[in-house]
Amino acid sequence: MLPLRALVCCLLSLPVLAQYTIQRATSPIVIDAVLDEAAWRDAPSMGDFAFNWYKAGDKEQTVAKLLWDDEFLYVSWYARDKHISAYEKQRHGPVSKDDCVEIFIAPNPAKPANYYTWEINAIGTMLNRNRSDWYTGGPTWEPDGVEYRATFHGAAKKDEAPEDDHWIVEMKVPLRNFSRDAAHTPPLPGDEWRLNLSRIGGKTNNQLSSWSPIPPPSVSFHTPSAFGRVVFSGPAQGRRGGRRIRFDPAEARAGAELYNRSCTMCHGLNGAAGDRAPALGAQRRYLRSTSEELFDAVKNGIKGTGMPGSPLSEADVRKMVAYIHSLRATAVDVEVPGNPANGQQLFQAKANCAKCHMVNGRGGILGPDLSSIGAERSLAALRAAITVPKPLPPRGYQPVKVTTTSGVTIAGIVKNQHNTSFQILGTDEKLHLLTSAQIRAIHFETKSLMPADAAAVLTPAELDDLLAFLSRLARSRR
Ligand code: HEC
Ligand code: HEC
Repeated sequence: MLPLRALVCCLLSLPVLAQYTIQRATSPIVIDAVLDEAAWRDAPSMGDFAFNWYKAGDKEQTVAKLLWDDEFLYVSWYARDKHISAYEKQRHGPVSKDDCVEIFIAPNPAKPANYYTWEINAIGTMLNRNRSDWYTGGPTWEPDGVEYRATFHGAAKKDEAPEDDHWIVEMKVPLRNFSRDAAHTPPLPGDEWRLNLSRIGGKTNNQLSSWSPIPPPSVSFHTPSAFGRVVFSGPAQGRRGGRRIRFDPAEARAGAELYNRSCTMCHGLNGAAGDRAPALGAQRRYLRSTSEELFDAVKNGIKGTGMPGSPLSEADVRKMVAYIHSLRATAVDVEVPGNPANGQQLFQAKANCAKCHMVNGRGGILGPDLSSIGAERSLAALRAAITVPKPLPPRGYQPVKVTTTSGVTIAGIVKNQHNTSFQILGTDEKLHLLTSAQIRAIHFETKSLMPADAAAVLTPAELDDLLAFLSRLARSRR
């Protein structure tokens, strides 16, 4: 091996700040420690917490989510916990001795050391501090207008019990609390803040986990340099050039039939390019994109070209327009049935997608990052990607098996190839640099690493849920 390899592999494994896009709340939220609102169901989880320096005992995960609207930042923690205990009742008391969740928020990404803290135990006692350079109050802080609720809110105490399974904290914080440090309150879509969430305390298994990993030697949640990055999303998911194209899926289906009957002597089947006319649905820039422009082109034809006007009724032309929109829409533009939260679970666990794909900074690196895939691909393309094996591995993802002269076998993907050297991203997620002199045998696989067997592995309902999750992956700006 080249000595360089050590260097490159370590660069790849550098600790990364966690990242998350805070979506706008899609429904009103009642603060009751029950996360049953559509807004919470739609919100993606922030991803697994990292156990930075906690070694002994069971590791229990936390599902944290953030949402926002013009007035509030909403935070929820769903803490799996087989041993729940909490005793501190005093406002601003040492709640982190108990089972406790925390969020530290720095609204100015250039000054992460200016941060405000919320620490809440399982019986609903809260501690707040303000660590910003302008704050001259005492060691604790009174944020304005915060509403929150914990599962055992108000109980005199919570002892560990055999039925312990999980507990929840739900909170909303008026955004005006952040106006000293935030660039805008409320934030503008695309604004970035830095923050971290954590779990601590209780008699058994004190967890010490955080959303954004905290690299050694630090063993403190008060490490602003490790705060993750969050970005506030735009007003609606999946805006294309600032304008969301809407169409009725039922009309689009009717239009599909009409199209394949009346337009394919020139255009191709299913909107593909034909012998005498261009594709209507391929990924390219179109001359005509609004409903009015498309209606005019289909109804009246395009003067000076081979595109004729159509004798179809106006209602049928509208169906055709809906169909053309559906061909062009990315997945996030269309209504996708299925439960995205369940899809996210499948992505992490049963379908094993996270092994190879990153979403919002979490997951494997062998496959492409899918954080924005819903805005990049159509629903049909997403379905095909996970159910139809490609005839050949696409460019940049050529799987390979190499045996070195020293007898080591490396499986992975060819990332770069020069006359005498290969750069291979191994299935071990390390980058291997090899010269031809170091290679005894090389075998190029003919199948992509992407399994494309989701239809066999998942039930039809699960497949819908997974597609619902993928279709909502759309970063507003990055
Ligand atoms: C006789 C051949 C022919 C038939 C039949 C035909 N088209 Fe076309 N169509 C064309 C040609 C050629 C163009 C490209 C015109 C240009 O160069 O701008 C076109 C362009 C279009 C465009 C504009 C694409 C863009 O991106 O601007 C739309 C929309 C369209 N056709 C829809 C339809 C529909 C819907 C039907 C069936 C009702 C249909 N066409 C039938 C030949 C045809
Ligand atoms: C063993 C690694 C591996 C696993 C597991 C895996 N993928 Fe992939 N995936 C890849 C690779 C490599 C590619 C790129 C090559 C290709 O498209 O065949 C890819 C491509 C994709 C694409 C196309 C991306 C684009 O830009 O069009 C999607 C979508 C996708 N995967 C989703 C999934 C989902 C959903 C799952 C779980 C059901 C999954 N993958 C499981 C490795 C994997």
